[in-house]
Amino acid sequence: MGLRAQVQRSLEDREGFWAEQAKLIDWQTAPQTILDYSRPPFARWYPDGTTNLCHNAVDRHLPTLADSAALIYVSTETGQERTYTFAELHQEVMTMAAILQAQDVKQGDRVLIYMPMVPEAVFMMLACVRIGAIHSVVFGGFASVSLATRIDDATPKVIVSADAGMRAGKVVPYKGLLDEAINLAQHQPKQVLMLDRGLATLELKPGRDLDLAPLRAQYAAAQVPVEWLPADAPSYILYTSGTTGKPKGVQRDTGGYAVALATSMRDIYCGAPGETYFSTSDIGWVVGHSYIVYGPLIAGMATVLYEGTPLRPDAGILWQLVERYKVSVMFSAPTAVRVLRKQDPSWLKRYDLSSLKALFLAGEPLDEPTAAWIGEGLGRPIIDNYWQTETGWPILSVAHGLEPTPTRLGSPGMPMVGYNVQLLHEQSGEPIGDNEKGVLAIVPPLPPGCMQTIWGDDARFVKTYFDSIPGRMVYSTFDWGIRDADGYYFILGRTDDVINVAGHRLGTREIEESINSHNAVAECAVVGKADSLKGQVAVGFAVLKDPVRYSEASAKLTLEGEVMALVDKQLGAVARPSRVYFISVLPKTRSGKVLRRAIQALCEGRDAGDLTTIEDAQALDQVREALGQAMGVSGEGTSARS
Ligand code: PRX
Repeated sequence: MGLRAQVQRSLEDREGFWAEQAKLIDWQTAPQTILDYSRPPFARWYPDGTTNLCHNAVDRHLPTLADSAALIYVSTETGQERTYTFAELHQEVMTMAAILQAQDVKQGDRVLIYMPMVPEAVFMMLACVRIGAIHSVVFGGFASVSLATRIDDATPKVIVSADAGMRAGKVVPYKGLLDEAINLAQHQPKQVLMLDRGLATLELKPGRDLDLAPLRAQYAAAQVPVEWLPADAPSYILYTSGTTGKPKGVQRDTGGYAVALATSMRDIYCGAPGETYFSTSDIGWVVGHSYIVYGPLIAGMATVLYEGTPLRPDAGILWQLVERYKVSVMFSAPTAVRVLRKQDPSWLKRYDLSSLKALFLAGEPLDEPTAAWIGEGLGRPIIDNYWQTETGWPILSVAHGLEPTPTRLGSPGMPMVGYNVQLLHEQSGEPIGDNEKGVLAIVPPLPPGCMQTIWGDDARFVKTYFDSIPGRMVYSTFDWGIRDADGYYFILGRTDDVINVAGHRLGTREIEESINSHNAVAECAVVGKADSLKGQVAVGFAVLKDPVRYSEASAKLTLEGEVMALVDKQLGAVARPSRVYFISVLPKTRSGKVLRRAIQALCEGRDAGDLTTIEDAQALDQVREALGQAMGVSGEGTSARS
C-alpha cells in the first residue's frame, strides 16, 4: 500500500492500523484497547498493555543478535573506540540498573543525566527505562541556570554526570557547572553519580557524590530483570523551549513510543537488523533519544555514538566512519552539511560508501543548495524529515519503506502515518488552500510516540498546544507551512519566539532573561537572524539603566563581551548571541509588546512590516542605526565589533 493510502487508512481506521503496528514490538500483556481518547486532547495509547522499552531495545534481540554490534562508540576527542555487542550492552545496562536500585531509585523516580557523548550515558538511559525510572537527559552544552531550572522541574532523586566532555580538542568541564546548578536549585538530589573520565579534576562532595567506577565493579555481574510497565507509564522527560522563559518538560510514554519508533524505522528509515545506523546528533536532543538510542536498537541495528565534530581530525571523518562500520542509514542536520560544504568536496569521494542507503537530515530547514550539493556528492537519496521534540518522530517526510516517493528540493515531504496534518489560517482557524501560507497543525488525537503532556502541568499542555488557534482544538506546531498542489509541504519558520541555531532549538525569552540579569541592563529583546551557516543566530538589543556610563564605544564593547559571557555561563555557549546592541528604547506596541518580528526583519535587511500598532516609531530607527553602524554603512562607524 502506498504512503497516501496508508496515511488515509491510519486516520480512518486508527485503532485497526495501530493495533497492527503494535505487533512490531514485544508486549508482556498485549493491549486489548488500542486508544483511550475519553479525555481529549490527552491520548492514551495501548492503555491496558504492558511492555518495556529496554526489553524491546536490548533483551529482545539476545536470541538472534547477542554477538552482533549494538553500540559503537567513537570519540575522536579522546581517541576511544569500542563496540558493545547486544550481550555486552545488556550486561552494562543491568549493572547501571543495579547501581540505580542501590540508590533506592524506583519506578516513577526521576534520574537526571547530564553527560557528554559517552557509552555510560546510553547505559544509564536504558537502565532507567529498564526499571521504570524516568530519565531526563540535559544537553551537555547547557550551563548552570538551564540545568538548575530543569533540576527544579524534574526533581530527580539521582543525577548522573561526568567530570568533563571534550569538544574540538578542548576539555569542557561539567562538574563545576553541575555543582553551581545544584546550588542554584531549590530541589536537592539525594545522590550524584560521577563518571570520572580523567579529563578534569573531580572533587566529590562527601555524602552526596559517588564515583561510578567502584559501583560498576561491585555490580559488574548484576542481573536485573525488566520491570513490565503499563504502556502509558512515562519513559522520559525532555525539556524544550517555547515562548516563555520556562522550558517545557515534554513527557513521553513507553508503549506508544516503542511502536511509533518501530514503525518509523521500517517505513521511513528503512533499517534492518544487523545493519548500522549513524546519527550525528547528541543524546541531549530528541533526535538523540529517538534515533541514536531507542529507534535503531528497537530495530535491532547497531548504533554509532560519536563524540566529535564533522571536521576533526579532518573533513572526511564522518565518511570514514560510514566506511569502517558499514553504515546503512545516516542522520544529521543541515548545519553539519553546510560546514562540510566549505571544505574540499573530494572528502566525499575518498571512502567506500557503498553500504549507505540514504542520508536523513532534520532539525532545521534544509536549503536547496545544501541538499543538492550533498545529494550529488554522495550519490544517495537525501531525505529531509520534519518533526519536533514534542512529536518524537517525523511528521513530514517520505516513506521509502512504503513506496519510493520522489523527494522535492526544499520540502521535507508529506504527512507520515498517524498524523492528520492541516494548514490553518492563523486568525480564522479555517483550513487554507494549496500554495497558501498557514499554521501547520495536527488534528488530535496525536499518534503514538508523541508527547503525553507537559511534565507536571496538564493545563499548560492544553493551553500551550491546543488553545492557540481560534475556535479549534488542534495541536499547533508553531511552524508556518505551505503545501503545493502535489501535496508536498514546505516549512517557512516559526510562528512563535523560538529560534533554531545550528539545529539547536532555543527560546529567545530564556536568552532575554539571562541578558536582563546583567545589572547594567534594564530590558532587552532577542531575535533570530538568518545565518548562512547556522540557519539562525541570536541577536540581542538591550536598553541600559545608565546609558551615559556606556556612551564610549570602548565601554560598549566591554559590556557587550560581558553580556555574552553571562549568557554563556548561565545558559551555555549555544545560546550566546552573536551580537548585543545597545539602544535607548525597545520598539513596542502601544500595549507594551516588543515588536520582535519587526526587529528581526530589520536585522535581515527586510522591511519592518506592519507598524500600525507601534508606540514610538523612532525606536525602530535606533535599531536601524545600531545595525547600520555595525554594517559600517552609517557615517559614524563606531560599532563595537564591525
Ligand atoms: O521549526 C521546526 C524545526 O525545528 C523545530 C523542532 O525542533 P526540535 O524540537 O529540536 O526537534 C527537532 C526534531 C528533528 C520545528 O518546530 N524543524 C525541525 N525539522 C525541520 C524543521 N524545520 C524545517 N525542516 C525540517 N526538516
